[in-house]
Amino acid sequence: MKFAGSHILSIEQFERQDIERIFDVADMMIPYAHRERVTKVLDGAILGNMFFEPSTRTRVSFGCAFNLLGGEVRETTGFESSAIAKGESLYDTARVLSGYSDVIVMRHPASGSVAEFAAASRVPVLNGGDGANEHPSQALLDLYTIRKELQHQGRNDLDGLRIAMIGDLKYGRTVHSLCKLLCLFERVSVTLISPPELAMPQDLVERLREAGHSVFQSNVMEDSLAHIDICYSTRIQEERFADRAEADMYRGRYRLNQAIYTAYCEPNTVIMHPLPRDSRVEANELDNDLNDNPNLAIFRQADNGVLVRMALFAMVLDVVDQVDKNARDVNWYTERRF
Ligand code: NCD
Repeated sequence: MKFAGSHILSIEQFERQDIERIFDVADMMIPYAHRERVTKVLDGAILGNMFFEPSTRTRVSFGCAFNLLGGEVRETTGFESSAIAKGESLYDTARVLSGYSDVIVMRHPASGSVAEFAAASRVPVLNGGDGANEHPSQALLDLYTIRKELQHQGRNDLDGLRIAMIGDLKYGRTVHSLCKLLCLFERVSVTLISPPELAMPQDLVERLREAGHSVFQSNVMEDSLAHIDICYSTRIQEERFADRAEADMYRGRYRLNQAIYTAYCEPNTVIMHPLPRDSRVEANELDNDLNDNPNLAIFRQADNGVLVRMALFAMVLDVVDQVDKNARDVNWYTERRF
Protein backbone atom coordinates (compact mmCIF):
# COMPACT_ATOMS: atom_id res chain seq x y z
CA MET A 1 0.00 0.00 0.00
CA LYS A 2 0.97 3.63 -0.33
CA PHE A 3 1.58 4.95 3.18
CA ALA A 4 2.25 8.63 2.43
CA GLY A 5 -0.91 10.61 3.20
CA SER A 6 -3.00 7.51 4.00
CA HIS A 7 -5.32 6.93 6.94
CA ILE A 8 -4.50 3.87 9.06
CA LEU A 9 -7.93 2.59 10.06
CA SER A 10 -7.91 -1.19 9.82
CA ILE A 11 -5.55 -4.13 9.48
CA GLU A 12 -7.53 -4.95 6.33
CA GLN A 13 -5.56 -2.25 4.51
CA PHE A 14 -2.31 -4.18 4.72
CA GLU A 15 -0.59 -6.89 2.78
CA ARG A 16 2.21 -8.94 4.22
CA GLN A 17 4.94 -6.87 2.59
CA ASP A 18 3.49 -3.73 4.23
CA ILE A 19 3.89 -5.37 7.62
CA GLU A 20 7.54 -6.26 6.89
CA ARG A 21 8.12 -2.63 5.85
CA ILE A 22 6.54 -1.25 9.06
CA PHE A 23 8.69 -3.61 11.15
CA ASP A 24 11.87 -2.56 9.29
CA VAL A 25 11.09 1.11 9.92
CA ALA A 26 10.26 0.34 13.57
CA ASP A 27 13.71 -1.28 13.93
CA MET A 28 15.23 1.90 12.49
CA MET A 29 13.62 3.87 15.34
CA ILE A 30 15.37 1.96 18.13
CA PRO A 31 18.25 4.46 18.74
CA TYR A 32 15.70 7.30 19.02
CA ALA A 33 13.30 5.45 21.32
CA HIS A 34 16.26 4.32 23.45
CA ARG A 35 17.40 7.96 23.73
CA GLU A 36 20.78 7.39 22.08
CA ARG A 37 19.97 9.69 19.17
CA VAL A 38 17.61 12.64 18.73
CA THR A 39 15.92 13.49 15.44
CA LYS A 40 14.05 16.65 14.49
CA VAL A 41 12.57 15.29 11.30
CA LEU A 42 9.03 16.37 12.26
CA ASP A 43 10.11 19.77 13.61
CA GLY A 44 7.10 22.07 13.21
CA ALA A 45 4.54 19.29 12.68
CA ILE A 46 1.50 18.98 14.95
CA LEU A 47 -0.27 15.79 16.06
CA GLY A 48 -3.91 16.09 17.14
CA ASN A 49 -4.20 13.30 19.73
CA MET A 50 -7.94 12.87 20.36
CA PHE A 51 -8.95 10.30 22.94
CA PHE A 52 -12.66 10.02 23.73
CA GLU A 53 -12.16 6.86 25.81
CA PRO A 54 -9.79 6.11 28.71
CA SER A 55 -6.22 5.38 27.60
CA THR A 56 -2.76 5.44 29.10
CA ARG A 57 -0.38 3.52 26.82
CA THR A 58 -1.93 4.22 23.45
CA ARG A 59 -2.40 7.94 24.06
CA VAL A 60 0.97 8.56 25.70
CA SER A 61 2.98 6.34 23.35
CA PHE A 62 1.47 7.93 20.25
CA GLY A 63 2.30 11.32 21.78
CA CYS A 64 5.84 10.27 22.74
CA ALA A 65 6.41 8.73 19.32
CA PHE A 66 5.53 12.05 17.69
CA ASN A 67 7.71 14.00 20.14
CA LEU A 68 10.62 11.62 19.52
CA LEU A 69 10.41 12.51 15.83
CA GLY A 70 10.59 16.20 16.77
CA GLY A 71 6.88 17.09 16.45
CA GLU A 72 4.43 18.76 18.84
CA VAL A 73 1.32 17.15 20.35
CA ARG A 74 -2.08 18.78 21.03
CA GLU A 75 -4.37 16.59 23.07
CA THR A 76 -8.15 16.32 23.55
CA THR A 77 -9.33 13.83 26.16
CA GLY A 78 -12.92 12.91 27.00
CA PHE A 79 -16.15 14.17 25.47
CA GLU A 80 -16.78 16.59 28.33
CA SER A 81 -13.86 18.81 27.33
CA SER A 82 -14.79 18.75 23.63
CA ALA A 83 -17.51 20.52 21.63
CA ILE A 84 -18.90 17.03 20.86
CA ALA A 85 -20.54 17.49 24.29
CA LYS A 86 -22.40 20.48 22.74
CA GLY A 87 -23.78 18.31 19.94
CA GLU A 88 -21.07 18.87 17.33
CA SER A 89 -20.90 16.08 14.75
CA LEU A 90 -17.83 13.99 13.95
CA TYR A 91 -17.91 15.54 10.47
CA ASP A 92 -17.65 19.12 11.76
CA THR A 93 -15.08 18.16 14.39
CA ALA A 94 -12.95 16.50 11.71
CA ARG A 95 -13.22 19.43 9.30
CA VAL A 96 -12.15 21.86 12.01
CA LEU A 97 -9.43 19.90 13.80
CA SER A 98 -7.77 18.71 10.62
CA GLY A 99 -7.08 22.37 9.91
CA TYR A 100 -5.02 22.57 13.10
CA SER A 101 -2.94 19.39 12.74
CA ASP A 102 -0.73 17.51 10.28
CA VAL A 103 -1.95 14.10 11.44
CA ILE A 104 -4.63 12.95 13.90
CA VAL A 105 -4.86 9.93 16.18
CA MET A 106 -8.35 9.19 17.43
CA ARG A 107 -9.93 6.78 19.90
CA HIS A 108 -13.71 6.67 20.21
CA PRO A 109 -16.22 4.27 21.83
CA ALA A 110 -18.28 3.63 18.66
CA SER A 111 -17.28 1.07 16.02
CA GLY A 112 -16.70 2.78 12.69
CA SER A 113 -16.47 6.27 14.23
CA VAL A 114 -12.79 6.78 13.39
CA ALA A 115 -13.41 5.88 9.74
CA GLU A 116 -16.35 8.32 9.68
CA PHE A 117 -14.13 11.01 11.16
CA ALA A 118 -11.32 10.20 8.70
CA ALA A 119 -13.69 10.58 5.74
CA ALA A 120 -14.13 14.25 6.68
CA SER A 121 -10.53 14.90 7.74
CA ARG A 122 -8.10 16.82 5.55
CA VAL A 123 -5.09 15.08 7.10
CA PRO A 124 -4.24 11.40 7.76
CA VAL A 125 -6.08 9.79 10.66
CA LEU A 126 -4.74 6.84 12.66
CA ASN A 127 -7.21 4.63 14.49
CA GLY A 128 -6.34 4.46 18.20
CA GLY A 129 -9.28 2.09 18.83
CA ASP A 130 -12.90 2.36 17.67
CA GLY A 131 -15.24 0.61 20.10
CA ALA A 132 -14.99 -3.18 19.93
CA ASN A 133 -14.04 -3.02 16.27
CA GLU A 134 -10.30 -2.53 15.69
CA HIS A 135 -7.04 -1.35 17.21
CA PRO A 136 -4.61 -1.68 14.31
CA SER A 137 -1.50 -0.10 15.87
CA GLN A 138 -1.86 -2.44 18.86
CA ALA A 139 -2.00 -5.52 16.60
CA LEU A 140 1.10 -4.28 14.78
CA LEU A 141 3.04 -3.79 18.00
CA ASP A 142 1.79 -7.16 19.25
CA LEU A 143 3.06 -8.96 16.18
CA TYR A 144 6.29 -6.95 16.24
CA THR A 145 6.73 -8.14 19.85
CA ILE A 146 5.92 -11.74 18.95
CA ARG A 147 8.52 -11.64 16.19
CA LYS A 148 11.16 -10.16 18.52
CA GLU A 149 10.47 -12.55 21.38
CA LEU A 150 10.69 -15.57 19.04
CA GLN A 151 13.87 -14.21 17.44
CA HIS A 152 15.31 -14.02 20.94
CA GLN A 153 14.59 -17.77 21.20
CA GLY A 154 16.35 -18.36 17.87
CA ARG A 155 13.20 -18.63 15.76
CA ASN A 156 13.09 -16.37 12.73
CA ASP A 157 9.75 -17.30 11.23
CA LEU A 158 6.24 -16.14 12.09
CA ASP A 159 4.70 -18.82 9.89
CA GLY A 160 3.77 -21.85 11.97
CA LEU A 161 3.17 -19.68 15.06
CA ARG A 162 1.07 -21.21 17.89
CA ILE A 163 -0.91 -18.62 19.86
CA ALA A 164 -3.63 -18.75 22.50
CA MET A 165 -5.91 -15.76 23.06
CA ILE A 166 -7.68 -15.69 26.40
CA GLY A 167 -10.53 -13.72 27.95
CA ASP A 168 -13.02 -11.32 26.39
CA LEU A 169 -12.65 -12.20 22.73
CA LYS A 170 -16.06 -10.78 21.85
CA TYR A 171 -15.40 -7.16 22.76
CA GLY A 172 -11.58 -7.11 22.73
CA ARG A 173 -10.60 -4.98 19.73
CA THR A 174 -6.92 -5.85 20.09
CA VAL A 175 -7.58 -9.55 19.44
CA HIS A 176 -9.92 -8.68 16.56
CA SER A 177 -7.16 -6.75 14.81
CA LEU A 178 -4.57 -9.40 15.72
CA CYS A 179 -6.68 -12.18 14.13
CA LYS A 180 -6.92 -10.16 10.92
CA LEU A 181 -3.17 -9.61 10.98
CA LEU A 182 -2.43 -13.32 11.50
CA CYS A 183 -4.43 -14.04 8.33
CA LEU A 184 -1.49 -12.56 6.37
CA PHE A 185 0.77 -15.36 7.63
CA GLU A 186 0.78 -19.12 7.13
CA ARG A 187 0.06 -22.26 9.16
CA VAL A 188 -0.86 -20.40 12.36
CA SER A 189 -2.51 -22.38 15.15
CA VAL A 190 -4.95 -20.19 17.08
CA THR A 191 -6.49 -21.38 20.36
CA LEU A 192 -9.38 -19.17 21.47
CA ILE A 193 -10.21 -19.47 25.16
CA SER A 194 -13.26 -17.58 26.43
CA PRO A 195 -16.64 -18.10 28.06
CA PRO A 196 -19.04 -19.11 25.23
CA GLU A 197 -20.86 -15.77 25.63
CA LEU A 198 -17.61 -13.86 25.01
CA ALA A 199 -16.37 -15.95 22.07
CA MET A 200 -14.46 -14.51 19.12
CA PRO A 201 -16.97 -13.19 16.52
CA GLN A 202 -17.74 -15.95 14.03
CA ASP A 203 -16.69 -13.94 10.98
CA LEU A 204 -13.17 -13.64 12.41
CA VAL A 205 -13.03 -17.38 13.20
CA GLU A 206 -14.04 -18.06 9.60
CA ARG A 207 -11.41 -15.68 8.27
CA LEU A 208 -8.71 -17.50 10.22
CA ARG A 209 -9.90 -20.82 8.79
CA GLU A 210 -10.07 -19.39 5.26
CA ALA A 211 -6.42 -18.31 5.69
CA GLY A 212 -5.63 -22.00 6.25
CA HIS A 213 -5.06 -21.69 10.00
CA SER A 214 -6.08 -24.23 12.65
CA VAL A 215 -8.59 -22.77 15.09
CA PHE A 216 -9.46 -24.42 18.41
CA GLN A 217 -12.12 -22.97 20.73
CA SER A 218 -12.41 -23.80 24.41
CA ASN A 219 -13.78 -22.35 27.62
CA VAL A 220 -11.10 -23.97 29.80
CA MET A 221 -7.71 -22.31 30.07
CA GLU A 222 -5.29 -24.73 31.72
CA ASP A 223 -5.48 -27.67 29.31
CA SER A 224 -5.25 -25.36 26.31
CA LEU A 225 -1.93 -23.86 27.38
CA ALA A 226 0.30 -26.76 26.36
CA HIS A 227 2.14 -26.51 23.01
CA ILE A 228 1.74 -22.78 22.44
CA ASP A 229 4.39 -20.14 21.76
CA ILE A 230 2.36 -17.10 22.79
CA CYS A 231 -0.20 -16.82 25.58
CA TYR A 232 -2.12 -13.57 24.93
CA SER A 233 -4.34 -12.66 27.86
CA THR A 234 -7.00 -9.92 27.75
CA ARG A 235 -9.15 -7.92 30.15
CA ILE A 236 -12.94 -8.23 30.41
CA GLN A 237 -14.00 -5.08 28.50
CA GLU A 238 -16.44 -3.93 31.19
CA GLU A 239 -17.12 -0.63 29.40
CA ARG A 240 -18.82 -2.56 26.57
CA PHE A 241 -21.29 -4.41 28.86
CA ALA A 242 -24.80 -3.20 29.61
CA ASP A 243 -23.95 -3.03 33.30
CA ARG A 244 -21.09 -3.78 35.64
CA ALA A 245 -22.88 -6.77 37.20
CA GLU A 246 -22.81 -8.53 33.84
CA ALA A 247 -19.06 -7.93 33.47
CA ASP A 248 -18.57 -9.19 37.05
CA MET A 249 -19.88 -12.60 35.97
CA TYR A 250 -16.80 -13.11 33.81
CA ARG A 251 -14.13 -11.25 35.75
CA GLY A 252 -11.54 -13.61 37.23
CA ARG A 253 -12.66 -16.54 35.07
CA TYR A 254 -9.14 -16.95 33.66
CA ARG A 255 -6.21 -16.29 35.95
CA LEU A 256 -2.66 -17.06 34.96
CA ASN A 257 -0.05 -17.25 37.69
CA GLN A 258 3.42 -18.76 37.99
CA ALA A 259 2.17 -22.11 39.38
CA ILE A 260 -0.23 -22.59 36.46
CA TYR A 261 2.44 -21.45 34.01
CA THR A 262 4.95 -23.97 35.40
CA ALA A 263 2.42 -26.78 35.42
CA TYR A 264 0.90 -26.29 31.95
CA CYS A 265 3.04 -24.10 29.66
CA GLU A 266 6.17 -24.99 27.75
CA PRO A 267 9.21 -23.35 29.41
CA ASN A 268 9.57 -20.70 26.66
CA THR A 269 5.93 -19.70 26.28
CA VAL A 270 5.77 -15.91 25.99
CA ILE A 271 3.12 -14.15 28.08
CA MET A 272 1.51 -11.10 26.48
CA HIS A 273 -1.37 -8.73 27.30
CA PRO A 274 -2.29 -5.43 25.59
CA LEU A 275 -2.62 -3.92 29.10
CA PRO A 276 -4.07 -2.64 31.31
CA ARG A 277 -4.16 -5.96 33.16
CA ASP A 278 -6.97 -5.90 35.70
CA SER A 279 -5.05 -6.44 38.93
CA ARG A 280 -8.05 -6.16 41.28
CA VAL A 281 -8.38 -9.32 43.39
CA GLU A 282 -11.67 -10.26 41.74
CA ALA A 283 -9.97 -10.28 38.31
CA ASN A 284 -6.20 -10.69 38.55
CA GLU A 285 -5.89 -12.14 35.07
CA LEU A 286 -2.07 -12.03 35.15
CA ASP A 287 -0.78 -12.44 38.69
CA ASN A 288 2.02 -10.22 39.98
CA ASP A 289 4.00 -13.38 40.77
CA LEU A 290 4.71 -13.55 37.03
CA ASN A 291 6.62 -10.24 37.19
CA ASP A 292 9.97 -12.00 37.54
CA ASN A 293 9.22 -14.53 34.81
CA PRO A 294 11.62 -13.69 31.95
CA ASN A 295 8.93 -14.69 29.45
CA LEU A 296 6.52 -12.04 30.72
CA ALA A 297 6.74 -9.71 27.71
CA ILE A 298 4.00 -7.21 28.66
CA PHE A 299 6.31 -4.29 29.36
CA ARG A 300 8.56 -4.97 26.37
CA GLN A 301 5.30 -5.06 24.38
CA ALA A 302 4.34 -1.60 25.71
CA ASP A 303 7.85 -0.28 24.91
CA ASN A 304 7.58 -1.63 21.35
CA GLY A 305 4.44 0.48 20.91
CA VAL A 306 6.61 3.59 20.65
CA LEU A 307 8.73 2.07 17.86
CA VAL A 308 5.75 0.93 15.80
CA ARG A 309 3.94 4.25 16.24
CA MET A 310 7.06 6.20 15.26
CA ALA A 311 7.23 4.02 12.15
CA LEU A 312 3.59 4.73 11.28
CA PHE A 313 4.04 8.49 11.64
CA ALA A 314 7.27 8.47 9.61
CA MET A 315 5.62 6.46 6.83
CA VAL A 316 2.31 8.34 6.72
CA LEU A 317 4.14 11.70 6.75
CA ASP A 318 6.71 10.33 4.27
CA VAL A 319 9.90 11.19 6.14
CA VAL A 320 11.45 7.74 6.58
CA ASP A 321 14.49 8.60 4.46
CA GLN A 322 15.05 11.87 6.32
CA VAL A 323 14.95 10.59 9.91
CA ASP A 324 18.67 9.88 10.21
CA LYS A 325 19.66 13.03 8.29
CA ASN A 326 18.01 15.20 10.93
CA ALA A 327 19.64 13.45 13.87
CA ARG A 328 22.36 13.90 16.46
CA ASP A 329 23.50 12.09 19.63
CA VAL A 330 21.69 12.94 22.86
CA ASN A 331 23.56 15.10 25.33
CA TRP A 332 21.97 14.03 28.61
CA TYR A 333 22.41 11.00 30.88
CA THR A 334 20.34 8.19 29.42
CA GLU A 335 21.27 4.97 31.17
CA ARG A 336 18.13 3.07 32.24
CA ARG A 337 17.74 0.58 35.01
CA PHE A 338 15.48 -1.76 33.04
C1 NCD B 1 -6.61 -2.10 24.99
C2 NCD B 1 -7.70 -1.26 24.37
O1 NCD B 1 -7.90 -0.11 24.75
O2 NCD B 1 -8.34 -1.80 23.50
N1 NCD B 1 -5.60 -1.41 25.61
C3 NCD B 1 -4.64 -0.79 24.87
O3 NCD B 1 -4.90 -0.03 23.98
N2 NCD B 1 -3.36 -1.11 25.16
C4 NCD B 1 -7.13 -3.23 25.79
C5 NCD B 1 -7.96 -2.96 27.01
O4 NCD B 1 -8.29 -1.82 27.34
O5 NCD B 1 -8.27 -3.93 27.69
